[in-house]
Amino acid sequence: MGKCPGCGSWETLIEEVDERGGKAVVGKGAKGRSASAVATSLSDVDLSTGLRIHTKIAEVDRVLGGGLMAGSIVLVGGDPGMGKSTLMLQVCASVPSALYVTGEESLQQIRQRADRLGIDVSGITVAAETNIEAIVTLMTTMKPSLVVIDSVQTMTTEHLESSAGSVAQVRECTALVTRVAKSTSTPVIVIGHVTKDGMIAGPKVLEHMVDTVLQFEGDGMYSYRVLRAIKNRYGSTNEIGVFDMTSEGLVQVTNPSEVLLSNHRAGESGTSIVAVMEGSRPLLVEVQALVSPTGYAVPQRVATGFDGRRLQMILAVLEKRGGVSLRQSDVFVNIAGGISIQDPAVDIGVAVALVSSAMDIPLGSGIVLMGEIGLTGEVRRIAFAEQRVQEAVRLGLTSVVVPHGVVDSISTGARHYLRPVERVSDVLQAVLAS
Ligand SMILES: Nc1ncnc2c1ncn2[C@@H]1O[C@H](COP(=O)(O)OP(=O)(O)O)[C@@H](O)[C@H]1O
Ligand SMILES: [Mg+2]
Repeated sequence: MGKCPGCGSWETLIEEVDERGGKAVVGKGAKGRSASAVATSLSDVDLSTGLRIHTKIAEVDRVLGGGLMAGSIVLVGGDPGMGKSTLMLQVCASVPSALYVTGEESLQQIRQRADRLGIDVSGITVAAETNIEAIVTLMTTMKPSLVVIDSVQTMTTEHLESSAGSVAQVRECTALVTRVAKSTSTPVIVIGHVTKDGMIAGPKVLEHMVDTVLQFEGDGMYSYRVLRAIKNRYGSTNEIGVFDMTSEGLVQVTNPSEVLLSNHRAGESGTSIVAVMEGSRPLLVEVQALVSPTGYAVPQRVATGFDGRRLQMILAVLEKRGGVSLRQSDVFVNIAGGISIQDPAVDIGVAVALVSSAMDIPLGSGIVLMGEIGLTGEVRRIAFAEQRVQEAVRLGLTSVVVPHGVVDSISTGARHYLRPVERVSDVLQAVLAS
């Protein structure tokens, strides 16, 4: 039914599996037998089933928290064309035996992809199947070391009439696979689609059901892809893996800072280098700003890869506390490389890039900035200052602008690189005066 006869709303009815059986009685199971549960002392719980399988792709292992946990179920989401199928096929090739189930592509397409990637296909079994019961039978008879299901939106269970991809189908199929994964200790990776607003299509409960949710992100215009853990029962959600999409598949980028800075040209106005954290990993990225006289009554403020409201705030602080008014100018800020930054430590880098562009003064070479801007114009302390400084020094940047408050937390060996600042006006003086 499209319309609910009860409340009159549309498209809200969800099909449920009919669980036949008597009324539940306290202490009695559905079939009337008395229900009992087994309890074990925590110290007696067997840990041998909690072994991790290492894929040979270190960036994937890192995001998973050190490898695929036996019996875990991992949901991988991402926009179409990000490379979900590609990366998962690569993961399949890196484990002893894998079952790759596809409901989206033909077996020929997968073979072609494997040939293009140049991977060893000897351990990979493929099946073009959308019936989840049939897939579960395959799982239990083949006993592969990994199962990949591409994608959960194409799978259907015999118990429901609704079409593939509906809330009920996605939920029931995932629930069934989860039960089998746990009982056979087989890790299962389920690929899921992402809707227009960036959610994994299907019920939110899907994300609750699985152990790990990984999100594959990237900008269509760039070949970089970031694999990020949104939820992880077996590891930190702070880790990211960085990949480059090439014709040989997704290649790990072990030194993302070098890649992100590879196009940086010192001596041009309107750019700065900032040290941001992505999880526990410091990244150096280039901030670009363009300030030009406006032709509009309301000047434009455009931020790409950076929060637009934060840009407004920085402009206001620059005007009130730094003596730099950009009211008559259009302002564009871009984080180079197509990545998106939430870390507030990027603030002073953005401020400096803006002023550098407005005044057409390039920054000196070897400068890197980190610090959050407060509303009173102070440069606020940031977390993980030591890691950021070490990354900057490792890449040969020797003039590290840091909030005054973090100097004591930096190891003494690196302190001579620091240029502590207390206020936004100090930052501008420190890097633009020379
Ligand atoms: N012959 C090719 N050479 C290089 N890249 C390719 C080739 N064919 C496909 N790709 C890349 O693979 C991407 C599709 O990857 P895929 O794993 O199918 O994505 P998803 O499963 O996330 O939709 C395309 O967007 C394209 O960038
Ligand atoms: Mg795909």
